[in-house]
Order: sequence, then structure tokens, then C-alpha cells
Amino acid sequence: MLIFERSRNGRSAYSLPPMDVPESVLDMEPHLIRKVEPGLPEVSELQIVRHYTELSRKNYAVDVGFYPLGSCTMKYNPKLNDALAESEDLSFLHPYQDEADLQGALELMYNLQNMLCEITGMDAFSLQPAAGAHGELTGMLIIRKYHKVNGNTHKKKILIPDSAHGTNPASAAMVGFEVVEIKSDSEGLVDVEELKKHLDENVAGIMLTNPNTLGLFEKNVSEVVQLVHEAGGLAYYDGANLNAIMGIAKPGEMGFDIVHLNLHKTFSTPHGMGGPGSGPVGVKKFLEEYLPVPLIQEGEGGSYTFKYDLKHSIGKVRSFYGNFSVLVRAYAYIMSMGAEGLKKVSEMAVLNANYLRKRLSERFKVAYERICMHEFVLDNYPVWKNLGVKTLDMAKRLLDLGFHAPTIYFPLIVKEAMMIEPTETESKEELDRFAEAMFRILEEAEKEPDILREAPKTTPVSRLDEAKASRHPVVRWRKEEERGS
Ligand SMILES: Cc1ncc(COP(=O)(O)O)c(C=O)c1O
Repeated sequence: MLIFERSRNGRSAYSLPPMDVPESVLDMEPHLIRKVEPGLPEVSELQIVRHYTELSRKNYAVDVGFYPLGSCTMKYNPKLNDALAESEDLSFLHPYQDEADLQGALELMYNLQNMLCEITGMDAFSLQPAAGAHGELTGMLIIRKYHKVNGNTHKKKILIPDSAHGTNPASAAMVGFEVVEIKSDSEGLVDVEELKKHLDENVAGIMLTNPNTLGLFEKNVSEVVQLVHEAGGLAYYDGANLNAIMGIAKPGEMGFDIVHLNLHKTFSTPHGMGGPGSGPVGVKKFLEEYLPVPLIQEGEGGSYTFKYDLKHSIGKVRSFYGNFSVLVRAYAYIMSMGAEGLKKVSEMAVLNANYLRKRLSERFKVAYERICMHEFVLDNYPVWKNLGVKTLDMAKRLLDLGFHAPTIYFPLIVKEAMMIEPTETESKEELDRFAEAMFRILEEAEKEPDILREAPKTTPVSRLDEAKASRHPVVRWRKEEERGS
């Protein structure tokens, strides 16, 4: 029962001591005074507790179970980092406070800028962008401005492999670039010969997701970057999948000029659900002057200040200085893991993905059967063709078996794709449980396929009209008489 339906006039969840100060009457403009009661539910404390507990039980989260949502890095994030981000010292700061009052926060951001430089091999970082795609947009604005400043306004083409994350072409197009798709080769990597065909004086740059969305490391990455540079383009690294390479490889050392990271995947803030994110953008020295302002700099006497005087800055891409609470979590995570810890994270993420890939390949077809990075893609086309069961049905059945479904039908270059990212925080036993569930689903597909087509049966709602849910979402309770409108 919803909280509004539990409401009864006069019931309340609080009791206040008698007033011991004179009642004051607000001197407000009459038009600002509410004429109708706000219509809040009147319930007891117990009813509120039950309401929220019930809501939380309807939800699935990484704190509940395995969440192998490929491309999203739904790993467990230490609660300690949440506690630090919520601490009064940090969460009660106001961005309009004086620099002198914000020294601790500025120092944290300054150190984080430097740590991200060290992790990626770049020279300067802006912490402003609020998401991965926002980082991409920032990077594209930098590329556009760089070519403009250098008198190369004809450079309009951005090359993007077909195995890139879907946000890449969207970000390039938003900035007015012409997107040119580069086909993958038979190994699922950038086809270098195909790339060469598109290299000419109009190339503004390349956007490379690495590891790509097949979970594969672009082994020809240095050659790709060199070719683009020779054509006068810049090389952009989508580093949202950094969970796979931390402490092992650096985009800067691969030759890239710009990189974005997803702090809300790799560095201890949960990804998704519309929560705050952070997509910092790092650049090589020659592009530092193009970054959004302000950066944080160390001033005289060890104090920290905002730096606004960047000659070619693309301006601000977000109000204030980025999603500060996400920056705090990232800082705490990096400090507590240390260099060795971060490397271990990537090693474990890759090990877990390869273990699960190997186990599943006993009965399933893996799209590109070779050592993967942090994730891999199943090609379930044979199941669909031979047994008439879609990847969607299999994913829905996983919900009944207690797992979050992997990403499905992405990347687009694999038919009936199922993209699985176990992350480093899962145990071998959990991976085995998931593999067993997948084998069981395959047996059901052979013997009782309707179980799969009718799944899920154990969730609060079964199959939704997903198009309607996204086009016409109903996200608040409405009175009976308002429903249906
Ligand atoms: C490789 C890659 N690039 C870009 C993005 C976009 O990031 P965001 O969802 O924060 O916009 C993602 C998201 O997971 C991603 O996996």
C-alpha cells in the first residue's frame, strides 16, 4: 500500500515539545502565501519506516546481489567513502564561500587533479564535467576550439569506431562535427586499413573507447594514434573503462591528447540511476589553456586558489566546480587503495571477467573468443535461431533467479548481444552461481522455453511496456481522479 493511501487525517509521526517562544507571524506578500494545504500524507512513524523499507525491498542494488551490467561497472563501493563525502566538514561547504574558507576542499581537488594526471599520464585535469558523456562533450569542444585557434576550421570529421560507446558519436555530433564510423575488423578491433581510407586533411580527431565495448584492448592503439596525428587530428580517449587498466597502462603514454574518466564507475561512486556523476577531462600540456575554468592551483605559501586565466578556455561547462561529493569519494578511494591497490583492482576485474567468460563459453558462444579485459560479450544469436528464445527472455529470467541482468542488445555490432561485466569486487563463488544460473536458463530454453518468455514472475512488476515507460513515465503518485490523464 502506498504512503498516500495509508494517510489518515490528524495522524502524525512527530511530537514536538510545547512552544516556549512567542508565535511570530510572517510578513509575506499575500500572493506568496499558500491557499491550499500541501496534501502531504499523514502517517505514523512506523508507517513511514514500513513505507521506505518496502520501497527498498522492491529495488535491486549491488548491495543485494550480483549486478553484471556490462559497460556500467556496477561494483561495490566502500561505504567509508560515502561516510567521508557526507561528513559535515565537507558536505556543508558552500561554493560561494571565500577561497580562504575552502582551503581543505581546494587542496583535495588540487591533489585529485594531480592523482588523475598520474593515473592517466596526462598533464592537466578539469574536474568540472558532471558525467562521462559531459566529459566527451567537453573534449569535443576543446578539439573544435583548438582547430579554430590554429586556423583549421575545415577540420570537421571525427572518426569513431563502430565498437565505441554510444555516447561518443552523440557528443561529437552535438559539437557540430561530422561523425565517420570506422568498421571493426574480424578480431573486433579498429580496422587500421579501413581507418587509413578516412584519413585526410578534414580529420579533426578520433574518439577511441579503450577497452572497447566488446571488452577488448585495442592492440594497435599506438599506430592508430600516430596515423591520426599525422593527419593533423587530435586523439581522444574514452577512459570510462579505466577499471580495466589502472596501474597497468596510461592513455597519455599511448599518445592520446585528451581523456575523460568516469569517477562514478571506476572511483567509488555508484553508476546510474540519475545520481550525481563526474567525468573529469585530462589533457596534454599543449591543450591545458583550453580546459574549462576554473582549475585549482597551488599558490604562494601553500595556499590554493581558483585559476581562471586560461587563454583559450572553452569557458565553463558546469556551475561551480564539479560534483564535489563524487570528487571526495574518488579522492578517498585513491588514497585508501594506493598505487598497488588500484593496479590490483584492474587485475582482479580482468581476472574475474576472463574466469566467467571461460566458464560460460562451455555452453555459450562468446562474440570474440579471446582474452578480454574487464567485460565480454556473449552472442546469443544461436540460442534465438535454434530455440526461439531471445536474449531479452534470458535476461528477464535472470531476475527471477536473483541476479541483475547484464546489458543486452549492446554493442550493436553483435546480434542478440549480452554484455557481462562482473567487476573486481565479486567472489569466485558468486561468479560460479551466475554461471550455473545461465546454464539452467539454457536448459529451460531447450525444455520449457515458456518459463523464459513469461519471466520475470518474482519481481514487483513483470514485463513492462518499456517504450511507454520511458516516453511517458509516471513518477509520482496521483489521486484516483487524476489517474489516466
Ligand atoms: C565507455 C563509456 N563511455 C561513456 C560513458 C558515458 O558515461 P555517462 O553515463 O556518465 O554519461 C559510459 C557509461 O557507462 C561508458 O561505459
